[in-house]
Amino acid sequence: IAGPIKLALFGSPVAHSLSPQIHQAFADQFDISIDYRKLEAGPETFGRRLQTFVDGGGRGCNVTVPLKSEAWELASRASRAAQRARAANTLLLDAENDWFADNTDGTGLIRDLGRRLEKPLAGQRVLLLGAGGAARGVIGALLEQGPAELTVTNRTFHRAERLLHDFRALGPLSVCAADELRTLKDISLVINATSIGHRGQAPVLPAGIFVTDADCYDLNYGPAADPLARHCRQTGLNFHHGLGMLVEQAAESFRLWFGELPDTDAVISMLEPDTRPELVDDDE
Ligand code: ATR
Repeated sequence: IAGPIKLALFGSPVAHSLSPQIHQAFADQFDISIDYRKLEAGPETFGRRLQTFVDGGGRGCNVTVPLKSEAWELASRASRAAQRARAANTLLLDAENDWFADNTDGTGLIRDLGRRLEKPLAGQRVLLLGAGGAARGVIGALLEQGPAELTVTNRTFHRAERLLHDFRALGPLSVCAADELRTLKDISLVINATSIGHRGQAPVLPAGIFVTDADCYDLNYGPAADPLARHCRQTGLNFHHGLGMLVEQAAESFRLWFGELPDTDAVISMLEPDTRPELVDDDE
């Protein structure tokens, strides 16, 4: 008799990941039996751990920090999104026992932005904070939506220039040095793809660069999103944390594995209180 389908999340750290709960909720929607584990691995151990997983019957996995580029490199085939990002967050073992890589982060972000924003991304002036793996994973999908301009800024300028070089063919991309941010104007959406919130800090955002009623989307959720959420409350930006994106990218992974796209609204509502039980409106 076939047992549950074996899936996993590889990365470090993975202990606090919500992915097992999310995928279990999706599987329940279709009466599919899964066994989704969190497997701690770094760049040196990933290849070996992945092989052990396959030897034990593993069929597909999610991959998170710091393994997304490794996951893309070890795959035999990759979706356009994964090729574009040169990074993967989803792997599927194909009929030939080779890995197919996908990157569902961009689609996940666009879906959740569609839910949170009052207006479409097309024509907006967007500021993207960060130039690491998280920024790389979403920039192609953002440009596909047809913003008037997408400006990338990063503490380390040459990494932003690298993104410009890699993605400028896809749309109106520009870079801005961190100390020149106040020269920007009419930004209606800022997206935080930095990891600075994990250190309890918020990125620096000059107030004058935004249109009235601008939105701020943080790819982080939970405590890592609190510093920016607080900053937005003080400065009047509409803040959105990244839990919805997490659930949406998971839904796309699930679709790759099972050919079914789960209902995400129900799962987001289920998890929302879990992620921030103690978050109260402390308008200090
Ligand atoms: P990820 O895969 O999460 O993107 P990463 O590749 O290490 O991880 O990138 C982290 C991002 O957060 C980078 O853009 C990083 O800026 P640098 O390229 O200058 O390192 C940004 N970041 C992290 N800590 C930061 C801080 N204290 N201030 C500003 N930016 C920070």
